[in-house]
Amino acid sequence: MYKKINHIGLAVKNLDESMKFYKDQLGFEFKGTDEVASQKVKVAFFKIGETNIELVQATSPDSPIAKYLEKNKEGIHHICYEVEDIVSTLKNLKDKGVAMIDETPRPGAHGTLVAFVHPKSSNGVLTEICQHG
Ligand code: CO
Repeated sequence: MYKKINHIGLAVKNLDESMKFYKDQLGFEFKGTDEVASQKVKVAFFKIGETNIELVQATSPDSPIAKYLEKNKEGIHHICYEVEDIVSTLKNLKDKGVAMIDETPRPGAHGTLVAFVHPKSSNGVLTEICQHG
């Protein structure tokens, strides 16, 4: 079952610089930063109502975010839907013929389990599925 939009991920070049707008100017509640080694990214979360804004910065030139920013400007990178049970959700998507980047869940930020849907199955929108750990 899909519960809500957990966050919208924004690709940024400089996390500290980009945080200022959300933290100081919009005044959103800062939830903290985290490094996701498997994706070679550093992220910052800001709570807005029932959802969050996730700023994502590459920590290595071969990070997916670094590659994304070679071809695209900074901006909206992905949308993340939160589910109750990521394993059954992934099985269900696979059964329905959805192309996945991740066929099995992997560790995400802040103790979550995450998996990405391939954009070719979602009209070019990079889609993340997450479950709280
Ligand atoms: Co995300």
